[in-house]
Amino acid sequence: MMTMTGGNAPLFLYALRTVTEGAASAAYDWIGRGRKEDGDGAAVDAMRAALGQLAIDGVVVIGEGEKDEAPALYTGERIGGASTEDVQLDIAVDPVEGTTYLANGLTNALAVIAVAPRGTMMDPGPAFYMEKLVVPPAARGKIDPTWPVERRLTALAQALNKPIGELTIYVLEKPRHRGLVARIHEAGARVALYPAGDVAGALMAAIPDSGIDALMGTGGTPEGIMSACAVRALGGDFMGRLDPQLPTEQIAVKEAGLDSTRWYALEDIIRSRNVFFCATGITTGLLLEGVERRETHERLHTLMISGASGERQIMSNWRPRTRPGA
Ligand code: FBP
Repeated sequence: MMTMTGGNAPLFLYALRTVTEGAASAAYDWIGRGRKEDGDGAAVDAMRAALGQLAIDGVVVIGEGEKDEAPALYTGERIGGASTEDVQLDIAVDPVEGTTYLANGLTNALAVIAVAPRGTMMDPGPAFYMEKLVVPPAARGKIDPTWPVERRLTALAQALNKPIGELTIYVLEKPRHRGLVARIHEAGARVALYPAGDVAGALMAAIPDSGIDALMGTGGTPEGIMSACAVRALGGDFMGRLDPQLPTEQIAVKEAGLDSTRWYALEDIIRSRNVFFCATGITTGLLLEGVERRETHERLHTLMISGASGERQIMSNWRPRTRPGA
């Protein structure tokens, strides 16, 4: 039995990467076809099939929506039939992170999964949006997300031992971020403005010397929780505040008794260090190369992170398109 703990952890991570490899391979067929639902659907099915091959007892905490609207990998779905305690997991999935990138044939689409021991991932309830602050390990615990932007950047620059002018902050290019971007520019830092994909931005922000020094601004809550898992494993810092954008979401968050003024610490969002995270490139991007397909083989490029060991590996796997003997 392959478990998440002790000497088996590297094997577990190795097996987990087949889940995002499968999703990325399935999504490849939909790159640039303008049909994001079809691309997402193919990746969901492939991810579910690959998860079904693992000896786990998982609950999808971050999935593809509610049971009624999502036939597979819906929030609350049980995956796998194993029953021992050390394979009882919370699972967060994003079979295609950057569905617009995929549909439009653009860079930076990823297939992503995070797993952690059962009961350790935050349940965001009806909150779709979260404001996020992600920084590398050297700045962990040194920045208060409630500080004004300039003060945050000054503290970040000090922690990273470089001038503010050399900081690059990843921000999603959204109308809601116009003020934030203006303030970062006024403080003298650079902004890397991407139309989508703040999981990649969070990963870059948590990896020292990646070219991105922090992520700021509001994006999806599910993406936030998934990112927090990776950031915890990488030793960086992630702070999040529920930031409902839609009127219906604002009402639902209030009715659920959630406090949208509270900044959640990393340890509140993911309550274990024993986190596993994999991301496979669908289209080539900041972090990973996309799927490359040849007649007999395809190449999948995957970032694999283990919180328990603190290791991060990038694996480039040329795998046969048809299984040997099939
Ligand atoms: P999709 O894969 O669902 O298209 O999400 C991409 C994304 O950019 C996330 O990375 C981000 O967290 C979220 O959408 C932001 O949502 P919105 O585009 O509604 O502001």
